[in-house]
Amino acid sequence: MIEARQLRKTYRDVHALDGFDLTVEPGRVCALLGPNGAGKTTAVRVLTTLTRPDAGHATVGGFDVATRPRDVRRLIGLAGQHAAVDDDLTGRENLLILGLMLHLGRRAARRRADELLERFGLAHARNRLVKTWSGGMRRRLDLIAAFLVEPELLVLDEPTTGLDPRSRREIWDTVAASPATVLLTTQYLEEADRLADQVVIIDAGRVVAEGSPDALKDALGARVDVEVADPSDLDAAARVLGRWATGKTEVTDAIVTASVPANTVTLPDVVRALDAGGVRVDDVRVRRPTLDEVFLDRTNRTEQPDEKTAA
Ligand SMILES: Nc1ncnc2c1ncn2[C@@H]1O[C@H](COP(=O)(O)OP(=O)(O)OP(=O)(O)O)[C@@H](O)[C@H]1O
Ligand SMILES: [Mg+2]
Repeated sequence: MIEARQLRKTYRDVHALDGFDLTVEPGRVCALLGPNGAGKTTAVRVLTTLTRPDAGHATVGGFDVATRPRDVRRLIGLAGQHAAVDDDLTGRENLLILGLMLHLGRRAARRRADELLERFGLAHARNRLVKTWSGGMRRRLDLIAAFLVEPELLVLDEPTTGLDPRSRREIWDTVAASPATVLLTTQYLEEADRLADQVVIIDAGRVVAEGSPDALKDALGARVDVEVADPSDLDAAARVLGRWATGKTEVTDAIVTASVPANTVTLPDVVRALDAGGVRVDDVRVRRPTLDEVFLDRTNRTEQPDEKTAA
């Protein structure tokens, strides 16, 4: 559904996209993750024909975004990062006008608008001007706009930013139930973990890691957490974990955490070694890393050259 090769987009001296590659198979949910300014919105804008790349090539549904933008747009339902609704219309009017623009027909547009307003908890406010709505309500209206016609590709730029937990869940359910291919960006790793078949982590305009949430976590190895009973044992615990650790051990409060190669260290190994080292513990865990840890690990690496030059 999406093929992007070596996309580049530069704003003055900022390389918003710097050799960005992406392949998304039909029916998949792909989450684009990356720190602020990584290039997520720029990638979305190029793929939805809202901006042209300086170099590189991309197709959506087989159509070249540069030469067949109208065909591309026909396939896409888009909810951008910033609200695109008209404040001086009511919620329902906004959707009706959009529905007509999407050639839904008056009656179908009305039916679909009311159904979605109901589903997203906005029915009570539908006849009020949008300028009187709260931020989260506008955000939901924006998202509804992307669902008005069942698109082949749903593109959602930070769909749940600023939403309360119930609304967030509603969006998750709607995305999960959609037969469309989905490209979404998010700052919430839990959201990517829950929804995405494919996670693409980007940093400074290029892909730094890609795979299913599970594959990305496994690639980082396993994690060991040791909660010490006495904070003065933190150093000793770190030394014990250092035996297996693949990188630096981290300390938060009374917990020492280390990355270890997958399937090499068992819980009894750790407990025995700590015991032999005289470390008293409250809790020990050997676990799979979280997507947050994958994110931090992968998006740190590209900063290292700068840190070195600074040092
Ligand atoms: N129209 C523009 N003019 C100038 N610079 C831009 C423009 N659009 C994006 N940039 C720059 O390109 C870089 C990537 O921006 P982009 O909006 O794609 O990041 P993002 O990953 O979506 O970030 P966020 O998580 O904050 O939404 C940033 O440094 C940004 O300042
Ligand atoms: Mg953005």
